[in-house]
Amino acid sequence: MVGANLSRVTINDTQYTLRLRMKLIIAIIKPHKLDDVRNGLIACGHNAMTVSNVEGFGRQKGRTEIYRGAEYYYDWVPKVKIELAVSDDVVDAVIQIIIETARSSKIGDGKIFVMNLTNAYRIRTGESGDTAL
Ligand SMILES: Nc1ncnc2c1ncn2[C@@H]1O[C@H](COP(=O)(O)OP(=O)(O)OP(=O)(O)O)[C@@H](O)[C@H]1O
Ligand SMILES: [Mg+2]
Repeated sequence: MVGANLSRVTINDTQYTLRLRMKLIIAIIKPHKLDDVRNGLIACGHNAMTVSNVEGFGRQKGRTEIYRGAEYYYDWVPKVKIELAVSDDVVDAVIQIIIETARSSKIGDGKIFVMNLTNAYRIRTGESGDTAL
């Protein structure tokens, strides 16, 4: 990385500076926090997202205790996955809203993953890039 939104890549010995303009935020949260997260995001002007019901486990492997010391049970815990494509200038604010609204301060509160998003298209108009978000 060479700056907040810049990244350098070398292809065939030629160095290019890329401007990373969009991120895909994937948040795995507790289902009962979904309304709070959604309302917090909408209140800050973020009005598009995708939600799915998922199952998973984190460090506790779905349990708060290890059963009989040695045995491990991999239980699937219901979670909600939220996907948001955002422009780089709001990514930090969006992540902060998710953290604040999804937190119960108990184990299993979830994770946020951030990926560079190379493009987006609005199918109806054919627009692309962050104007399509
Ligand atoms: N490394 C990971 N890769 C993919 N999904 C993950 C990962 N870590 C957590 N998840 C997903 O997030 C959900 C919630 O994870 P969780 O909050 O329990 O993480 P944790 O690391 O165990 O933190 P905590 O100690 O606060 O519970 C999991 O059920 C799983 O769906
Ligand atoms: Mg956990």
